[in-house]
Amino acid sequence: MATLKEKISAWSYGSGSNASAAAAASPVGVAQAQSMPPAALAAAASAPAAVAGSAGVTMPAAPAVSGTYYALKTRLHQSLIAKIDLAAAEAMQPDQLRSQLRDVLLGLIDEEAIPMNEQERRSLVADLQNEVLGLGPLEPLLADPDISEIMVNGFDTVFVEKRGRIERVNIRFNDDTHLLKIIDKIVSRVGRRVDESSPMVDARLPDGSRVNAIISPIALDGPAMSIRRFAVKPLKMADLVERRTLTPGMAELLAGMVKAKTNILISGGTGSGKTTLLNILSSYIPEHERIITIEDTAELQMQQSHVVRLETRPANSEGRGEISMRSLVKNSLRMRPDRIVLGEVRGGEVIDMLQAMNTGHDGSLTTVHANTPRDALGRLENLVGMGGVSLPVKPLRQQIASAINVIVQATRLSDGSRKITSIHEVTGMEGEVISTQEIFHFERSGVGADGAVLGRFKPTGIRPLLAERLKISGVNLAEELFNPLVFNE
Ligand SMILES: Nc1ncnc2c1ncn2[C@@H]1O[C@H](COP(=O)(O)OP(=O)(O)OP(=O)(O)O)[C@@H](O)[C@H]1O
Ligand SMILES: [Mg+2]
Repeated sequence: MATLKEKISAWSYGSGSNASAAAAASPVGVAQAQSMPPAALAAAASAPAAVAGSAGVTMPAAPAVSGTYYALKTRLHQSLIAKIDLAAAEAMQPDQLRSQLRDVLLGLIDEEAIPMNEQERRSLVADLQNEVLGLGPLEPLLADPDISEIMVNGFDTVFVEKRGRIERVNIRFNDDTHLLKIIDKIVSRVGRRVDESSPMVDARLPDGSRVNAIISPIALDGPAMSIRRFAVKPLKMADLVERRTLTPGMAELLAGMVKAKTNILISGGTGSGKTTLLNILSSYIPEHERIITIEDTAELQMQQSHVVRLETRPANSEGRGEISMRSLVKNSLRMRPDRIVLGEVRGGEVIDMLQAMNTGHDGSLTTVHANTPRDALGRLENLVGMGGVSLPVKPLRQQIASAINVIVQATRLSDGSRKITSIHEVTGMEGEVISTQEIFHFERSGVGADGAVLGRFKPTGIRPLLAERLKISGVNLAEELFNPLVFNE
């Protein structure tokens, strides 16, 4: 954990002239909502009022960001560091420190003798407090519980996903250096680093949000970052039913399958809700069972108490010390797990996972990146190959067919909603091909006036072979659940 002194003094902007140059070069109209420059300063830079953002995205008109504003901010920041009693600040509660900073800053602003109204002073102070104590321009976005994803494409281009819709926001960093400093602040907090030799990094915010950052020379237009917000109140099955992600009947079936120790593969595209569903399904694992979770970046939140959580580790700067998903899956088998919950299969660990599923670790759950259940099976096959294991096609498929019992397809539809578009049961092999049967599917019927996807969930009429197994495990499902003629929603 960095000391306050480090936290505060590690911080500085790019050189004043750089910041000004970058600000001047940035397109007029991309302004900071959070740190609207005082009008007096914007006027001093004699920039015209804002018009619209790029690429047809309408942005609220706002005063242009002026280099003068950044220069002032930098100056104030440096004076602040010189003035603050770090030893005393270290001992303070966050709220106390925040208000202490405000008092010092207001004094410093007065010394600058720049005409500002009360509101402008307040936003300048908030801006600087965020820089010193938090993640700068990201703070107002992080404070908005409706934002589920923050995508920083460059220092002056930030998009968010809000209630399923992607929109551009009026938030920007001073320049690449500023953005890089914020990225560094995030990754160094979890003991990772990002630089030219390792330009991609995964990290986590203290609240659990997942962060990925990528910098030059890989990212061609400067640093980029994606933050998958950690839902403060994680979604539950009831929330999914309420949002019409699936029907109560489908929810009952999935929950029953978890209780009955079925091996489930959740398939879906980026941001389709795989991890969310994995988390929810995991909550149906009975309390007495021992669960091992394995993830690249810990996102799962297990409710049970008998849980061991494992996370992979990237190589250090000398290229050593990597702990791969594969080695964690292997290791977990020696930890007497009842269930293995693997965040996502994306490499050679798939072979160990399949073996685990085939050798008594029933009820294991994982996800895979694929757009249909068929693709998901194909992807598993490819991943085995990537792991350096070359099995003839048929035995390989046999392994997969006997390991995976059910594939649940998650989809993010064009209106931003997430749906379970298909539940497939794996039934065995027919010749060289893995055979499956669909139990439920979402039938699209069109698009409403507001862009909403119309359609309904339908059982296919096939009663899953697994229903027997569920019954033996004490999970009794109503026959109507699988009947397409019975209204199911
Ligand atoms: N059923 C749902 N309804 C509404 N929002 C959802 C639903 N499921 C997930 N979300 C939201 O969608 C976002 C993506 O969810 P999640 O992280 O589970 O997706 P993912 O498929 O695991 O993504 P990735 O491929 O990036 O790992 C999150 O912000 C989550 O809160
Ligand atoms: Mg995920």
